[in-house]
Amino acid sequence: TPLDKIRNFSIIAHIDHGKSTLADRLIQRTGGLSEREMSAQVLDNMDIEKERGITIKAQTVRLEWKGHVLNLMDTPGHVDFAYEVSRSLAACEGALLVVDAAQGVEAQTLANVYQSIEHDHEIIPVINKIDLPSAEPEKVKTEIEEIIGLDASNAVLSSAKSGIGIDEVLDAIVERIPAPKGDPDAPLKAMLVDSWYDPYLGVVILVRVIDGTIRKGQQVKFMATGTTHLIDRVGAFTPKLENLPDLGPGEIGFITAQIKEVAQARVGDTLTDAKKPAAEPLPGFKEVQPVVFCGLFPVDAADFEKLRESISKLRLNDASFSFEMETSAALGFGFRCGFLGLLHLEIIQERLMREYDLDLITTAPSVVYQIELTHGGGHIDLHNPADMPEPNKIETISEPWIQAVIYVPDEYLGSILKLCQDRRGIQQNLTYVGGRAQATYELPLNEVVFDFYDRLKSLSKGYASFDYEQIGYREGDLVKMGILVNEEPVDALSMIVHRSTAETRGRGMVERLKELIPRHMFKIPIQAAIGGKVIARETISALRKDVTAKCYGGDATRKRKLLDKQKKGKAKMREYGSVSIPQEAFIAALRMG
Ligand code: GTP
Repeated sequence: TPLDKIRNFSIIAHIDHGKSTLADRLIQRTGGLSEREMSAQVLDNMDIEKERGITIKAQTVRLEWKGHVLNLMDTPGHVDFAYEVSRSLAACEGALLVVDAAQGVEAQTLANVYQSIEHDHEIIPVINKIDLPSAEPEKVKTEIEEIIGLDASNAVLSSAKSGIGIDEVLDAIVERIPAPKGDPDAPLKAMLVDSWYDPYLGVVILVRVIDGTIRKGQQVKFMATGTTHLIDRVGAFTPKLENLPDLGPGEIGFITAQIKEVAQARVGDTLTDAKKPAAEPLPGFKEVQPVVFCGLFPVDAADFEKLRESISKLRLNDASFSFEMETSAALGFGFRCGFLGLLHLEIIQERLMREYDLDLITTAPSVVYQIELTHGGGHIDLHNPADMPEPNKIETISEPWIQAVIYVPDEYLGSILKLCQDRRGIQQNLTYVGGRAQATYELPLNEVVFDFYDRLKSLSKGYASFDYEQIGYREGDLVKMGILVNEEPVDALSMIVHRSTAETRGRGMVERLKELIPRHMFKIPIQAAIGGKVIARETISALRKDVTAKCYGGDATRKRKLLDKQKKGKAKMREYGSVSIPQEAFIAALRMG
């Protein structure tokens, strides 16, 4: 395809403003799928994505419209996947900004719009749902201009549901989004935008060609990993898979090359011709590393092999998560796993439970600490608080820090600054653009990984956004806080905390555990302790009544049902000494109020 006939774009939208419906309409209008094939929403095709309303893996669809090829790139929408998002955006020249005509501009859109602007995108405002009686397109236009600062005079009005304005959206893409640039005669340079494992095709790699041409039968070199592969298939999704002879400059499509693991296909890597390589790779390659670690253990020890298989399968499709075997005194055999962030952890955990039908216990997430031992005893990278050496063996302990840039509307600034303060943040900068503040903070990663993003969102009614990068390790006064349930230490709940926040954390933990652990026939003390010193304590009082007493009279089936339910509930608990702890307690206990 000649460069001037190509348009590459993504869609930015707040949840529920109609991104998927619009994407489906664009596909339908351009003839990519039949009515019947359209029945299921095409773009977000995973259950978990649907439920959480986020897209986990980027997908692209190639559309044809009036002699042009339009590549629609879908992007993941969470800070855990910020790097993937940045690569998807780097593969486009423009974006549709979809805003609900009745709701107006909302939170999530802001962060994504600014990212898109940073990539020099041409942004086309699309005011959707104009069929609604409560639609106020003129008001929304003003909002787009005042809140975001984009010219909305030529916004496209649409109803993705009723099929209004769809041609206008397609025309606007062709007319307003610039064609990509590239040199067809230069050595091949293609950016690896995404990769995933397909049971039939093996590893599928999504690429954006910058210069040169990528074709079947070509030997390509991955410049960051240094490996060479023979391309056996080139194609695009329309959204059905279609084979193509090649992809030229500006084009987006996929390749396969008999690659076994996604780990060999790193997002952001540059593909070049093995025989006639480019002088240098594309800028911006970053090796994403897991930053949050936790243990995953089967509730039923007999499920260990099944867990191993399931984790290995998931790993085939997700190079950013890592795992190795781990044993715990209390939990038996399991795996120590690394993730990009807490949401990533929860997604993997949920997929293991749902798709592979496993009951799991997740131990307290932790970042990686660096420990120097006394008397030249060497260096440890600590992934697991349970392995923390005795305090007298530790010379120094350091934790990873990040620099976070937070965007937030003025009215919420106060509470966001307090949040950063509470999390040991050091303010670097604070500036205002329009009604929006931009705060730059240095923060310890361990104060951020658990629930910072959630807190940020809830304190700002969803309007704040943040982005971060790691800035290295710093020494800190860090201690291991243990949790004792009924006087027994529960290893899986121990965590490393800063001494200054230990008491608050400890109190939060025991209070939460008090809510999460069901009553037993006896009193259960729950304590947080550092070394031998208890810093917080709660007690769960003993259970008095027989649960079945609730079923008035002698309805035997109801009684049996209740007992069955209890038994089921029990299956998902873990015995600690004589106390059963429900599986969700392990992560939930870490969320700070
Ligand atoms: P997520 O996938 O959750 O991010 O949402 P989304 O932005 O993709 O929105 P989606 O397309 O799933 O639409 C959300 C809801 O709005 C659905 O119930 C759609 O049927 C509805 N919807 C989408 N477009 C329109 C429209 O033009 N008019 C009306 N009335 N409803 C619409």
